[in-house]
This record gives sequence, C-alpha cells and structure tokens, in this order.
Amino acid sequence: MSRSISIAKGSCALLSQNTRPASFAVKPLLSQWQGRNSSHSPMGGVGGNLRKKITLNTIRTLYKKGEPITMLTAHDFPSGHVADAAGIEIVLVGDSLAMVAMGMEDTSEVLLEEMLLHCRSVSRAAKTSLIIGDLPMGCYEIAPEQALESAIRVIKEGRVHGVKLEGGIEMAPTIKKITTAGIPVLAHIGLTPQRQNALGGFRVQGKTAAGATKILEDALAIQEAGAFATVLEAVPAEIAALITKKLSIPTIGIGAGNGCSGQVLVQVDMTGNFPPGRFIPKFVKKYGDVWSESMKAIEAYRDETKSRAYPAPEHTYPISKEELAEFERVLGYQDV
Ligand code: KIV
Repeated sequence: MSRSISIAKGSCALLSQNTRPASFAVKPLLSQWQGRNSSHSPMGGVGGNLRKKITLNTIRTLYKKGEPITMLTAHDFPSGHVADAAGIEIVLVGDSLAMVAMGMEDTSEVLLEEMLLHCRSVSRAAKTSLIIGDLPMGCYEIAPEQALESAIRVIKEGRVHGVKLEGGIEMAPTIKKITTAGIPVLAHIGLTPQRQNALGGFRVQGKTAAGATKILEDALAIQEAGAFATVLEAVPAEIAALITKKLSIPTIGIGAGNGCSGQVLVQVDMTGNFPPGRFIPKFVKKYGDVWSESMKAIEAYRDETKSRAYPAPEHTYPISKEELAEFERVLGYQDV
C-alpha cells in the first residue's frame, strides 16, 4: 500500500512511501502519530512511552503524600509538548500568554477566543498532563452563569480539563456554579494580576496580619466552594506556609515560598527565553538560557546561508546520474 506524507514547505510536495529514501522509512512503534506527519510536525518521530494520564486523583494523591506538585505554563504546541514530556503534572495555559506569546502589555487585553486557540494548541501536545485553561478578564466576573458559559467553552473548544479564575470570597458562588457543573476549578488568590489596577500594581499581598487574614478567608471560601487547588501568588513565605497548613486542598505557589503544596512558574521565565536585560521578578529562577541558544543557532544559520555553507550535500535529496543527465539533456546543457 502506498501512503503519502507531505514533506515540503509551501509546495506540499508528496513522496510515496514506496519511493522514499531509506532515511524516511517508518520506524515501528516510535509514535502513534508517525506516518501522518509533515516533516515539520513537532510530533514527528516522538510520542512513545506515554506516562499515565494525570487526573485530579493524581493531584490529590500527591497532596496527601506531601509530594510537591509541579505546574508550569505553556502557551502553544511546543511549550505544551516539552512541559508534558518533562513530566510536569499540571500544565497551565495561563493568561500570561497575553504578554509572552502575544506581546500585549498585560493580561487585561487577551480575549476568550484567543485563549481558546492557545488552549487547543497546548491540549494537542500535552497528552498526559492535567491541563488547566485560564479564564481571561471579562468572561467570568459579571455573573456565575456567564462564568459557567465561558468555562464550558474552555473545556469544549479549548480541550482542557479544568479552568482557573482569579479572586477569593467574592468568587465563591462562581466557583460553586462551575464545579457543580462538573468542571474542575483552580482558584488564584493573593496577587491577582487581572486586578493589578485595583491593587495599585504588582504588589506582594498579605504583608500585614490583616492582609494575611483576608487571604486566609479567601482561601477557605474558595475551598468551601469546591476549588480543587489554589494558586497563591506573591505572598510572604511564612504566611503562605501557614495558610497551606489551614487548608485541605493544595496551594500552588508563585512567589510564595517553599511551604506551598506545589509550585508554578511561567515557562519563558524559567527557561530563560527572553533577551538579556528584561526585568524578571524576584521569585523566578532561571533554569536555562533558551534565548542565547536560539540566538546562537539562528545566527549560525544566517551566516552559513550567506556563505553557502548550508545546505551541505547531506542536507539534499539524491537523484541518479542517469536522471540528472537526462534532465540536463532536456535543458540542452549536455550533448547525448
Ligand atoms: O497566567 C499565568 O501564567 C498565571 C500563573 C503565573 C499562575 O496565572
């Protein structure tokens, strides 16, 4: 049987599997997707060894065991793919993608439709992580019914497993509405970036006993409303640890110290995928230097293209001497 794969940019040239050079031979068991991928497909040649799917039960088990829960943002197919492959338990399609993927000033600009597009891309890649999609500002605050409608869209159209929304006590009826409909909710309290204007900017929360008490009240209310966990952002470590101890659901900290039940970071921050000199918050640890690596590779490609060092013979497709000679004859370059 002859199967076809698309191999070329733009032209979409097709190669018959029967006539493919050996390097194109399909290797058995490599991937459930292999064989129907274009050569540009990020899934080409990978995808085996899938770990067991992470569910809410997995998260509860980790929490009960006291094992820290790992959460990382992803905003597209490649970032979802690598987070999943690295064994991250919860992949968050956070509305921080407004800045890191769309170049917006802040999260208030991103639309639900745009979030849905990014959620779908991540969900195609992250086959085993629990995927949570952020509800962007404006699609859930008006009424619990509005929030439920938006949450249903994020599940049905975004293809994720649960939603995240910002807010404490005032959001409890909304969280109850969504969870009662069978949609897992991850809450987000402490510093809530969607409300940065009301908070007077990106400020650490809970720095006074009264402030910390308010965060605890928020945490208890969202727990009671059915949230399966909560993000705790920009809170002094001691306060976050004390609040964590008072709860029976996990806290996922970001800028909230080591006493939380898990941690979350924005992927471009922790992989160092940004130019030198950019501001990074105090809590971010830069585990890599993806920007420099990409820069090095792209500059080398640029230089080798300019000097014609690339592509080398090993990057080109072979043709038999006879066929080449025939083509040259057709063009009148060679006497026969
Ligand atoms: O949008 C986001 O990425 C987030 C995380 C930083 C928690 O909300």
